[in-house]
Amino acid sequence: MGVKGNAIVAQSGGMTAAINATLAGVYETAAGSADIGKVFGALHGIEGIINNNLVEMNLTADEVERLKTTPGGYLGSCRYKLPDPVSGKDVYDKILNTLKDNDIRYFFYIGGNDSMDTANKVSTYLREHGHEILAVGLPKTIDNDLPITDHTPGFGSAAKYIATTCSEIYLDVKSFDIPYVTIVEIMGRNAGWLTAAAALVRERYDSPDLIYLPEVPFDLEQFFVDLAKVREHKPAAIVVISEGIMTKEGQYFAELAGDLTSDNFGHKNLGGSASLLASHVKERLGCKVRAIEFSLLQRCAGHLVSATDINESFAIGKAGVSAALSGKSGIMMTYQCEREPVYKMTIGHCALSDVANIERKIPREWINKEGNFPTKECNDYIRPLIQGEIHPVTKNGVPDYLYLEK
Ligand code: F6P
Repeated sequence: MGVKGNAIVAQSGGMTAAINATLAGVYETAAGSADIGKVFGALHGIEGIINNNLVEMNLTADEVERLKTTPGGYLGSCRYKLPDPVSGKDVYDKILNTLKDNDIRYFFYIGGNDSMDTANKVSTYLREHGHEILAVGLPKTIDNDLPITDHTPGFGSAAKYIATTCSEIYLDVKSFDIPYVTIVEIMGRNAGWLTAAAALVRERYDSPDLIYLPEVPFDLEQFFVDLAKVREHKPAAIVVISEGIMTKEGQYFAELAGDLTSDNFGHKNLGGSASLLASHVKERLGCKVRAIEFSLLQRCAGHLVSATDINESFAIGKAGVSAALSGKSGIMMTYQCEREPVYKMTIGHCALSDVANIERKIPREWINKEGNFPTKECNDYIRPLIQGEIHPVTKNGVPDYLYLEK
């Protein structure tokens, strides 16, 4: 017989189009378990637990289905950095009280590497303070930068959006036979996985021309050399850059336009690299230039999700609850994949402490020697993750997503 008690689930960090699929998986398995009584959702991640701001989740089967393709954080998110347990004891005690008062024995935290740090700290503190809970981290991030897991829930849908939209941009740009430089900026912070998804377009069209990733230092003069080579044989060039491209001195390119603000974890709020690069191109080449920053669109496109991603994200949520029900704790669920002869995913787990605050980047050998395009190995890795379509339920011509007033 397993531990009896209530469960809590929370979402944290940057959103993805699949984060609610994991929530749906957690809810479905938790609500169906004889060991778990109520399923609480914490509003705005750990902040909801600190402030005892919870909702009891009671979803119908139809709502669970709609939740799977709903983007944004159904329960709300936060970027709250937990203090050190000694100096911030009062914060941890509030968490302890919320969990004790609501008889919570199961804790599920859906997030990226910062969130795994939060889950790890909470689970350790509670264990040391006599309130045994079973704590399981569920990965998510469009950045795909968590170690150990083959990929992260949410990455495949964002990558599908990138590959699709970059194809569509190419067809538009190609309609004009004029000197033209289009610069597309993609999220991913210090890892280029999502930007690299633009290379999949090359399997169908002669685009993009250049792709710059944070893994290789960005040199403005070399960029103009690369661009000149492209423009020798075509007037319109498409360049894709990561928001996190950096100079060889280790400074974000976006920062050259002025200071960037930071979030609570000390991460710089990126964005603006494409506009800055476009202004350099306009000044030097004087041709038509357009900067396109995908920004939030790439992580909230519920109308263009990868079925593989949504189904896997749902499955990992369910597997996380099953793991806790079997007594496992202090772990993050992971994907373990084979790509040959056919793509196959199984779910495993690792210690939370092995992933907290660690960033995984693209191996250098998956980027060409010029540092301006990913290799075929990178495409082979990403391609299976963007397969399949699931369409959200629509009403009056637009998606009818599930929304919780917070
Ligand atoms: O961590 C996920 C992510 O989407 C990054 O790709 C991006 O740099 C960051 O979040 C943006 O965060 P926010 O939406 O808080 O500005």
